[in-house]
Amino acid sequence: MKGLETHPVLNRNSEMPLLRPEVLDRLQRPLKDLRLSVIDRCNFRCSYCMPESSLKGDSPFLPRAQLLTVSELSRLVRAFASLGVHKVRLTGGEPLLRQDFIDIVAALREVPGLKDLSMTTNGVLLPKLAPALKQAGLSRITVSLDSLDKDVFARMSGGRGTPDRVLEGISAASAAGFTRIKINCVVHKGVNDHTVMDLVEHFRGSGHIVRLIEFLDVGSSNQWRREHVVAGNEWLQRIHARWPLEPLSESQAGETAERYKYRDGLGEIGLINSITRPFCGACCRVRVTANGTLYGCLFSAKGTPLQPLLTGNSDDAALSAFIQDFWRRRTDRYSETRHLLPVNAGRQEMYRMGG
Ligand code: GTP
Ligand code: 5AD
Ligand code: SF4
Ligand code: SF4
Repeated sequence: MKGLETHPVLNRNSEMPLLRPEVLDRLQRPLKDLRLSVIDRCNFRCSYCMPESSLKGDSPFLPRAQLLTVSELSRLVRAFASLGVHKVRLTGGEPLLRQDFIDIVAALREVPGLKDLSMTTNGVLLPKLAPALKQAGLSRITVSLDSLDKDVFARMSGGRGTPDRVLEGISAASAAGFTRIKINCVVHKGVNDHTVMDLVEHFRGSGHIVRLIEFLDVGSSNQWRREHVVAGNEWLQRIHARWPLEPLSESQAGETAERYKYRDGLGEIGLINSITRPFCGACCRVRVTANGTLYGCLFSAKGTPLQPLLTGNSDDAALSAFIQDFWRRRTDRYSETRHLLPVNAGRQEMYRMGG
């Protein structure tokens, strides 16, 4: 492994300890976690992600011919897995809008070394697809659900879908065998904050895990302002006052959520406090868009195209070496430095970058 910075890591699935490479960036953060967008289109128009008003004029979406194919995605994930990435999250846009999504899951499931294959969805297509997703080998599902109040939901989703349909999606995923489903709620002050406690109460004791996410200044079309953010700590105080909580330790290094369990045993919640308590220090996430552009940070303005390395004659080793070189030069820590930077400095939209 010449040229690699290596750390010995015990392979928990094998009886013998195995030496695996860990590729470290300039801030000594290992490359661990891939978030792979498979499509930038969505059937929702969430105000914090893809507001309808920002889509006027020419279609901002990638032509379908530019989306990476199943075999390109598979080759890409193989390259990441060879560099120590065992965890892949499929995102969009709405990933279930890809007609071949089940094929993607089935193909990625076969990648040697991949231990955790998850997806983020708005949930409305789950009643149709949950059993096939389970069958194809998807490990975990995260569902976005910002409010149980139908008017508030409509305001957040751009009038698409209803909370009942999302709840049906969650039930279908549960019936198909997915457990500990994560329920992502982006909190937008003055829009859905008055309905957050109801959402928390609804899922308390359900076995699913609500995560309250601070509204992020990602992209340039969601009209983000600092005053729109409710600090996660406020939720911690309010929830703890009603249902006492205790902190849980990190389940893996660099995770996004601060986790708490209910003292009475009725489950856990997560707080994703990227604005008030940035977690760049241990960020091991890399992102690839649906057309194969590589980004080291959710807030990167400029990406690095990988497609030439996927479609040309270049071999797998060249692809891995390219990614490794990219990661070794990475210095991104946007959330820790946002106060020093200009607002909206040409960032990508979340629906392109992957949620
Ligand atoms: P798993 O660990 O795979 O269960 O998922 P996760 O904890 O990474 O959470 P998920 O993918 O559901 O991410 C939840 C939300 O956290 C995202 O939708 C973003 O709003 C935010 N988020 C995720 N990753 C990052 C990141 O690297 N940086 C920042 N600033 N926010 C992130
Ligand atoms: N702030 C926080 N999270 C966002 N997401 C999209 N846009 C934003 C934003 N501005 C995340 C949500 C959703 C996922 C698809 O993307 O967590 O669940
Ligand atoms: Fe679609 Fe998810 Fe973005 Fe909403 S947050 S518009 S569901 S990709
Ligand atoms: Fe990672 Fe960038 Fe998010 Fe910081 S802001 S945690 S570096 S993706």
